[in-house]
Amino acid sequence: MSTQQLIHQLARTQFLSAAQWQTLFAQHTQEDAATLTALAQNTAKTYFGNRIYTRGLIEFSNYCRNDCYYCGIRRGNRLARRYRLTPEDILACCREGDRLGFRTFVLQGGEDPGFSDDLLCQTIEQIKARFVSCAVTLSVGERPRSVYQSFFDAGADRYLLRHETANAQHYRRLHPPGLSLEHRKECLWTLKDIGFQVGAGFMVGSPGQTDADLAEDMLFLKELEPHMVGIGPFLPHSATPFAACPPGSTEKTLFLLSCIRLMLPQVLLPATTALGTAAADGRERGILAGANVVMPNLSPLSVRKNYMLYDNKICTGEESAQSVAQLQKHLSAIGYALAVDRGDSPLVKLKKKES
Ligand code: 5AD
Repeated sequence: MSTQQLIHQLARTQFLSAAQWQTLFAQHTQEDAATLTALAQNTAKTYFGNRIYTRGLIEFSNYCRNDCYYCGIRRGNRLARRYRLTPEDILACCREGDRLGFRTFVLQGGEDPGFSDDLLCQTIEQIKARFVSCAVTLSVGERPRSVYQSFFDAGADRYLLRHETANAQHYRRLHPPGLSLEHRKECLWTLKDIGFQVGAGFMVGSPGQTDADLAEDMLFLKELEPHMVGIGPFLPHSATPFAACPPGSTEKTLFLLSCIRLMLPQVLLPATTALGTAAADGRERGILAGANVVMPNLSPLSVRKNYMLYDNKICTGEESAQSVAQLQKHLSAIGYALAVDRGDSPLVKLKKKES
């Protein structure tokens, strides 16, 4: 089958086999990429119109007990300046976000044992009590089922946990012993089972990644059917074992965004900060390739520079929450507008929470 035929089959059936994905990744031409982008953009418009959802990102702690080889806030990075916001700091970010029009707050942090599960639950409860029309998304890594359940019961609506790579051998190349793909996947299924809107995802061009690995990522996403998928290019961080590794390609990231839009037509798909860091117009190009979410930074300015997952991470320019007006302008220049509601996944009729 030709690559053009593969693209049309994907658009028609939302499915390709592992072998077909690999062929598409390895053999596509520029013309194929243009076809794919147009189909993906069209699909996003069918389900979401010209509306782009926004989420205010609050990076509340950069302490982490893990030592992932790619990540700038890994435990082993002695050069990282560590910080941890208080619940009051976090609430102040939410107040600012609410004023700026955000209706989703994403609380992201390392796996920080110093910010207890109880404290996080209390923080979630306070946010939900004060900002009743807002959704809370968590991105705080792997936890036991009982803890995930307590976050959900406290009022958290969504959970982001990228699977990073769906190939076990590649997973071991990116992570130290003790972390496993098996456990990562189990966490994702648990989160889904509890009733969270769940986000998975991976880095494009992470060290050692092959097209066969990417094909496995696509099949895993198809199987999991997450509500959200976060992908961005791998970008090296100077104080990690992967400092000298080349960055992932912007073009390939855009190509994969379009593939994901066609495979999971209604998925919430952010144009990520990593994509915006890799290319100045990365976010806009992501949207034109089928993305429908942006996540401006709402963290306090004083700590933003310390949440450095990779070198040169943008955080004070237009991607910051304070620049929504600018963002609006750039989006309207390409025919899109910011949405003002919570932006829940169309796939879920929100489970009525007991009590
Ligand atoms: N380059 C790109 N993305 C990274 N992440 C962590 N480190 C890097 C890096 N060096 C991503 C991971 C993680 C998310 C919060 O940030 O995919 O899940």
